[in-house]
Amino acid sequence: MLVDADGKEYIDGLAGLWNVVLGHGRRELADAAREQMETLAYASGYAGNSNPRAIELAERLAGLTYPNINRFFFTSGGAEANETAIKVARSYWKLQGKPGKTKVISRELGYHGTTLAAMSATGIAGYWPLFEPRVPGFIHVAALSADALEDAILREGADTVAMFLAEPVIGVGGVIVPPDDYFPRIREICDRHDVLFAADEVITGFGRTGKWFGLEHWHVTPDIMQFAKAITSGYFPFGGVGMSDPIARVLDEAPGPWMHAYTYSAHPVGCAVALRTLQVIEEENLVAEAARKGALLLGALQSRLGDHPHVGEIRGKGLMCAVEFVKDRDTKASFAPEEQVGARINAEAAARGLFSRVRGDVFVLAPPFVTPDYTLDRIADILAAAVRSVLPA
Ligand SMILES: Cc1ncc(COP(=O)(O)O)c(C=O)c1O
Repeated sequence: MLVDADGKEYIDGLAGLWNVVLGHGRRELADAAREQMETLAYASGYAGNSNPRAIELAERLAGLTYPNINRFFFTSGGAEANETAIKVARSYWKLQGKPGKTKVISRELGYHGTTLAAMSATGIAGYWPLFEPRVPGFIHVAALSADALEDAILREGADTVAMFLAEPVIGVGGVIVPPDDYFPRIREICDRHDVLFAADEVITGFGRTGKWFGLEHWHVTPDIMQFAKAITSGYFPFGGVGMSDPIARVLDEAPGPWMHAYTYSAHPVGCAVALRTLQVIEEENLVAEAARKGALLLGALQSRLGDHPHVGEIRGKGLMCAVEFVKDRDTKASFAPEEQVGARINAEAAARGLFSRVRGDVFVLAPPFVTPDYTLDRIADILAAAVRSVLPA
């Protein structure tokens, strides 16, 4: 629950910004941070240095993530993780004698952060105008068309493309779940053209979709994966990148140093909080719970809003759901943007005690994994009442 300055309570329908998966006030996470601060508050991660918590976390993640991903670099958040992934890919190709492979292909509606390269990979144009020009060599393709990726690789020339970057389930762009054959085909296309596939698991990582990692739904493994958010349940700014064994081997054998590090890379307090968070997720069986609760929330939304004439789609994967409002349910025609339908529904939901976000006319939901079942039901009730008040059936 969130409480505003006037004491009014709200259900946190987005777990902060998709990250506070364990809810607030978890003593064990505060203890993990305090104990680490009292022991080793900081250690440099530069120039080959590490620290015990970072090594422990990397070992833990090697066992938890995709089987081919066993080497990690830790950051302070998601955008830094994406910047790092892009530099991993470019350096890998340079060290392989293919210095021309530098371009990044990502997707329309994809969100990867607001630092310059991550912003350039982001496929939501509203994030660009004040900050143009974008970094050159970033290409966007339609979100759910594997053919669009292959066409772009062929058009640009595979010898110029370093990587394809995609979220397993698009989050900020409006919770867009791919068809089951999408990522298997993406994997095959990337392999065929020698393009690295980097999965941005900043939202989908650590249980949000009802599996530990998003691509597990489709039995696909990436070459690089980026994570952040849930790994510390938002209690400490933290993220990272995992890379496949072949990539790690190539970077290991580089003749010179890999000149990439942040002051707060592998922060021991972040690593300690991450380790404790992973332990709680496991002990409380929260990945399976996210799957169960997601189905419950989706079912509750369907039963309240499924036949509303202005609800175009109710979709989701695990505890990551969205309700899309349309002018015409049959043609799926949108409302005019100036009608501000999504924003008005969001305001009505907030007035009734549900805090979340809209993207255009899509209302997104990603509550904490520990949200009680009755609160999920209440979310559906509040959203249905908000929808009826703005769009009487
Ligand atoms: C998929 C994805 N990637 C990257 C980011 C950026 O993460 P950060 O805000 O920690 O830089 C976000 C943030 O919402 C995200 O959803």
